[in-house]
Amino acid sequence: MSQFTKSAIVSSLLIVSVNSLVSFAETMPAHPGNALLIGLGVAQSSNVALFGQEQVAGARIAEELLNASGGINGTSFKVVLEDTGGDEAGAINAFNRLISQKVMGIVGPTLSQQAFSADPIADRQKVPVIGPSNTAKGIPQIGEFIARVSAPIDVVAPFAIKAALKLNPKITKAAVFYTQNDAFSVSETGTFQRELKTVGLNVTTVQKTQTSDTDFTASISSALATKPDLIVISALSADGGNLVKQLRQNGFSGPIVAGNGLNTSNIFPVCQKACDGLIIAQAYSPANEGKINREFAAKYREKMKKEPPQFSAQAFSAVSVMVEAAKRADKKSKLAAMDISALRIAVNKEIINGTFDTPLGEISFDKEGEVHQRNFYVAKIVMDASGKEGKFEYLK
Ligand code: ALA
Repeated sequence: MSQFTKSAIVSSLLIVSVNSLVSFAETMPAHPGNALLIGLGVAQSSNVALFGQEQVAGARIAEELLNASGGINGTSFKVVLEDTGGDEAGAINAFNRLISQKVMGIVGPTLSQQAFSADPIADRQKVPVIGPSNTAKGIPQIGEFIARVSAPIDVVAPFAIKAALKLNPKITKAAVFYTQNDAFSVSETGTFQRELKTVGLNVTTVQKTQTSDTDFTASISSALATKPDLIVISALSADGGNLVKQLRQNGFSGPIVAGNGLNTSNIFPVCQKACDGLIIAQAYSPANEGKINREFAAKYREKMKKEPPQFSAQAFSAVSVMVEAAKRADKKSKLAAMDISALRIAVNKEIINGTFDTPLGEISFDKEGEVHQRNFYVAKIVMDASGKEGKFEYLK
């Protein structure tokens, strides 16, 4: 029996004896001062919650399924959630709150824009961070405790341009929009613009927007005046969804490629019927082979009554990587005997250069914490006639 299990049982008995209403599962964690907590710092408020809600769903399913299959070598773990909101200050506060609760590591934040401010705080305190959705260039390079499961946009985004060209071989001219006050959108448009050149398309205009924009009429009329056959958007879900809607309202009927910021069914209420046809690259497919994805996807469908999206699959993957790293570290040297600083360092060591089985497929990390994954996909949004319900249809 592991030290964890022994101390868990002893502490459970003590607590159960004073409060028989507390369940065994709730009193199981670890040894004093070293509770096996995984911090989840993602957006539950602001427009960024359109992603954050999907992330919490994925992380909670990981907590449930991985605890049911033995937790961390027989000891259960808890996912502790702190809302980052949608800005840098919110992410910094959430990270600080999680660190002071002695989490072994943090899964978060939602945006790259937030990661550039919050990750250095965790890194300086040697707290491992796994980015579940940060796709801008430069995230793992923030420090040795920073990794991500979300493949960088320069790897993922080009697939969407190639797919648009395959579906519409006659297109020659593209207009580009991007949100200039969001680090991820700036990074993504760089990739999109390079790829457009690589495939031989002419970029007729580059329109800059803001995350707070709600009326895009002026930039849309400038862009449409250049007669593009394709529009390529890097934005977040709320502003991006509105932009898509207004492009259709203003008469653009050609193909639209959007980036990772619109990769959520939470944009359906924003752009409604106008979401139809959006082409978006994917780092996850619900049809992925492998036991862990089958279990995750089945649980997600059971709970959420829809197909699992990329943001949920990546959050599940981030939690499962941290759990697996903790299991590996515990097998080498009992985590129960370590103080929280040593425990965090041991877990980080197992993340970096490790290989993990996840719903994204088998992934590994390089020395810098950058993820390597094999397969990427492209999906097209298909909305029903009412414009209320829709789905991501994976392209061959
Ligand atoms: N992929 C988006 C980002 O990195 C959510 O900010």
